[in-house]
Amino acid sequence: MNQVLTFDSILVIFTGILTCQAGCVLESLSQYVEERDFIMPLDLGAKGSCHIGGNVSTNAGGLRLLRYGSLRGTVLGLEVVLADGRVLDCLAKLRKDNTGYDMKQLFIGSEGTLGVVTAVSILCPRKPKSVNVAFLGCSSFQNLLETFQICRGMLGEILSAFEFLDASCMSLVEKHLKLTNPIAESPYYIVIETAGSNAVHDEEKLHDFLEKVMASSLVADGTVATEEAKIKALWSIRERITEALRHDGYTYKYDVSLPLEKIYDLVTDMREHLGNQAKNVVGYGHVGDGNLHLNVTSPSKDEALLAAIEPYVYEWTWKWRGSISAEHGLGLKKRNYIYYSKSQEAVRLMRDFKAMLDPKGILNPYKTLPDNVR
Ligand code: LAC
Ligand code: ZN
Repeated sequence: MNQVLTFDSILVIFTGILTCQAGCVLESLSQYVEERDFIMPLDLGAKGSCHIGGNVSTNAGGLRLLRYGSLRGTVLGLEVVLADGRVLDCLAKLRKDNTGYDMKQLFIGSEGTLGVVTAVSILCPRKPKSVNVAFLGCSSFQNLLETFQICRGMLGEILSAFEFLDASCMSLVEKHLKLTNPIAESPYYIVIETAGSNAVHDEEKLHDFLEKVMASSLVADGTVATEEAKIKALWSIRERITEALRHDGYTYKYDVSLPLEKIYDLVTDMREHLGNQAKNVVGYGHVGDGNLHLNVTSPSKDEALLAAIEPYVYEWTWKWRGSISAEHGLGLKKRNYIYYSKSQEAVRLMRDFKAMLDPKGILNPYKTLPDNVR
């Protein structure tokens, strides 16, 4: 099930709507549409192995969500096999369709618990003519947030990503993957990507922005890439953090949404809270989307460490009305913590949907829904 089905081939004007089977690997789809002057609206570190069906089922976010939005907007249609074997054909290719309930949304992000996604149609943006990446260093998280505000104002219409990593992440990619820090050491690093239609205009805007944030000392050091090889090298520092963490030991992973001004306090608090119980406590993620990845490593699986992290991390997130699962899904490990982010009434309705669509509980059992519905 790894075939492209159509790419607007019957139309004279390409609208960029790709329809493909669920087993297509994201990177091969990217190559396919790029050859036709489009890009996929999502991009993530795992692109070389993840399948589009899985991306949709988990509502994967990734690095471009800031610009192109979530799959809830870019997926136009789905084909889904239901628990009783019926094939639900919602493979629409329309931007607008208000004919009643939007059935496909039930299967986006429900982790295969309500049906199996077998084909997807997705709206692809045009391939930008000019791409720039800036890798910057900040001396405080407050400076990083202020840089983001200025960035949105000065680069808004061409901004395609605003990502961050902390100094601990940088140490891990240097140590385990032998990557090189391209700028002076800083407590925080930002990856900014612009994607636009006019290289001269884009570079001028980026230049003005960099001049402003450097003159005001919000950014301490930085480098810019316009050619593909350097762009890839800068991106790989951010994209390969999970790989570096795997080399560092057993990793406890948290994926939370928080109010922007609180986003890094969780990492600082957790570091203090765990003291020398943890090997490393790191923070990175999608600042532009208010999404933090907090990861804690330890030489091996450690029940006492886990007990110190959970439910502390969930209580912290609940206190600031965040989400305990921003873009990765609840899966097996986080489903019983659902009440930190969802009301009892909402979880009961989830249970009712599940009972209606999968009465025998055969679809991805033990995932997403909690053991006990209150
Ligand atoms: C990332 C994955 C972990 O952002 O979501 O690198
Ligand atoms: Zn992520």
